[in-house]
Amino acid sequence: MPHSSKLRSVVRGVGAYLPEKILTNKELAELVNTSDEWIVQRTGIQERHIAAKDETTSMLGAHAARAALAEAELKAEDIDLIILATSTPDWTFPSTATQIQAELGVHQGVAFDLQAVCSGFVFALATADKFLRSGSHKRALVIGAETFSRIIDWTDRTTCVLFGDGAGAVVVEASDSTGDRHERGILTTHLRSDGRHRSKLHVDGGPSATQTVGHLRMEGKEVFRFAVGQVTDVVKDAFAATGLTADDLNWFVPHQANQRIIDMSAHKLGIAPEKVIATVHLHGNTSAASVPLALSVARQDGRIKNGDLVMLEAVGGGFTWGSALVRW
Ligand code: ACO
Repeated sequence: MPHSSKLRSVVRGVGAYLPEKILTNKELAELVNTSDEWIVQRTGIQERHIAAKDETTSMLGAHAARAALAEAELKAEDIDLIILATSTPDWTFPSTATQIQAELGVHQGVAFDLQAVCSGFVFALATADKFLRSGSHKRALVIGAETFSRIIDWTDRTTCVLFGDGAGAVVVEASDSTGDRHERGILTTHLRSDGRHRSKLHVDGGPSATQTVGHLRMEGKEVFRFAVGQVTDVVKDAFAATGLTADDLNWFVPHQANQRIIDMSAHKLGIAPEKVIATVHLHGNTSAASVPLALSVARQDGRIKNGDLVMLEAVGGGFTWGSALVRW
């Protein structure tokens, strides 16, 4: 449903963080039987960042959160809601969001984790939007942070070339609104999941099932087919809910998993290639961090300006998928 309440969630700032260490395709070719040509041609990925041994998801997330707060010109004490999307928490519990809360010096409000794999950031943004529009909270940090390098099987060439570590964050603030779709803020969000697809993209360990952390396993072709075939429905739902069209968009910021999926999804939706923000070549698939990482790059290089209409879209394990249409 389009949002009609008197409150709207306006994005005030965005930030990101990538660990220092870069792992290139050439270096990967020394670990497994692959090549720079194969990886670039099939995925568009050129390099990915890998967290240092003692660098955890909460540390990456806190860096990104500080950058988002800086752009928003806000302080820790202004935040009363922190939602962290991650599938690679520091510990089984407490939540990694509470560790970021402590690290930032936020001592009020609430912080919690949300798990929707690569759709996590869009799910977290939609959740924060519902909190803010209800009037219960005023300013939220929505963070996607991951250390997928810790759950990768580094002997499996079909998955280890695809993923990387990183974090991205936005600050969203509840603001008065007349409900006009030309005013700034999140216009509509649409989330879906279908748990029948677990086997196609999953981790083969967990506290309850195996008492281990496990490794990521994926049927690449099946995931590809689903990502291109099904996921566009949530983008169409966002257009239908607002009466806006692909022509109205300034930017399309999809999950950064694979350049071919990004290109095919945009084409299917009738979105012009020059409106597509793609950063997957720089950091690979960083799961829940990928959309805010792309947003941060496009904001910093001046592409996304206040007032622009931006469509966010993501798909991940579960399967889960979702969209958020934002007047920046
Ligand atoms: N280097 C060289 N060869 C490889 C590699 C590699 N890294 N990986 C696989 N191959 C080989 C395969 O073994 C196969 O060889 P064969 O023909 O001798 O059997 C051949 O390349 C073709 O393999 P396919 O799997 O058919 O290749 P495809 O074109 O489908 O590309 C890929 C594989 C890139 C994984 C693709 O399927 C894909 O991108 N899928 C989506 C993955 C994705 O986005 N996952 C994340 C989703 S989001 C989330 O929630 C985590």
